[in-house]
Amino acid sequence: MPDKKVVPMKKLTTTLLALTAASALVLSGCSSDRGGESGGGETSGGGESAAAGFEEGATIGVALPQKTSENWVLAEQLFNDGLTEAGFKPIVQFANGGVSEQQSQIDAMVEQGAKVIIVGAVDGSQLGSQLKNAKDNGATVIAYDRLVKNTDAVDEYIAFDNFQVGVLQGEALLQGLAERKGEGPYNIELIAGSSDDANSTPFFEGAMSVLDPKIEDGTLVIPSGQTSFEQVSTQGWKAENAQKRMDTVLSGSYSDKELDGVLSPNDTLARAALTSAKQAGKETPVITGQDSEVESVKSIVAGEQYSTIYKDTRKLVEESINAVKALQAGEEPEINDTESYDNGVITVPAFLLEPIIVTQENAAEVYAGDPTLEELTK
Ligand code: BGC
Repeated sequence: MPDKKVVPMKKLTTTLLALTAASALVLSGCSSDRGGESGGGETSGGGESAAAGFEEGATIGVALPQKTSENWVLAEQLFNDGLTEAGFKPIVQFANGGVSEQQSQIDAMVEQGAKVIIVGAVDGSQLGSQLKNAKDNGATVIAYDRLVKNTDAVDEYIAFDNFQVGVLQGEALLQGLAERKGEGPYNIELIAGSSDDANSTPFFEGAMSVLDPKIEDGTLVIPSGQTSFEQVSTQGWKAENAQKRMDTVLSGSYSDKELDGVLSPNDTLARAALTSAKQAGKETPVITGQDSEVESVKSIVAGEQYSTIYKDTRKLVEESINAVKALQAGEEPEINDTESYDNGVITVPAFLLEPIIVTQENAAEVYAGDPTLEELTK
């Protein structure tokens, strides 16, 4: 599996606990995980540009994808505020027009002297030459939330553990079915994210690592017969694409059946599937999600959508800004995983945060202290 090796949670936790040791290992240059030509023989995040540090007040580029979910919109504001507060000059841009727009934005950031390029890729496989150009010009490249693939021009990956997100979604679906739909077998359908987003595969594979055995033993039935990633992926993470596919599946395979559950990779697509089920006159299926979007949290509290995942964007941005600060000071950013994210050319040193599953039962507890979401659980 080229994208993401399986990282059992226990191992991840151990890795997280071994944070200091792992960082020390990286700092002392003992890790030699990189598979390909990594340039200059450096072993992990930052490399030569990190060792030299750079001036205070430097320009930092943040290239974000389209606004396909609320987390990206929140990230824009947090990066602008956080980087400015830390004394840097941020350039934060969305690539609403897609890949080529993002490519030119990154080129322009490099031209404006950005010392760090933080990138949430539209298409993780299509930034190789722009990121190489960034590195050639002395910038450090951090993949943010989404891995960039097939290039050695990336120093670090900062994200929530994507495979674990999928595992939690698979587990939540099984738990929800048992709680809300009585005894099995259950009719379910699968939805995956956009195939150009490197995260979509680990999300799906994580979930299927839990669901596959239950499909094999007959507990779960997929009436549409659509089970491969290619069949169930959703171009551009667009709600209308997921809804259209669900409409077709429901009219084609469910005239005499109930839809008990849906694996959805995020909240936007979960709401689209719920709309589709409602319009087809079906009972509310047990459905998973991700991102803790406002409308979905309301839906969970109201007992409709079954689950979501909390990936606190504030933490992800904070870790990214901590990495920028470290690089500015000529230090190595913190790393807690040096083996999971093989991007096809190198294993990218990562700082992984832990995703949290949220259902009606634990929503109040999980969102306590979140400036937007806490309110919704009262
Ligand atoms: C993010 C998800 C998000 C999706 C669509 C993924 O790369 O990790 O949190 O739901 O993009 O925006």
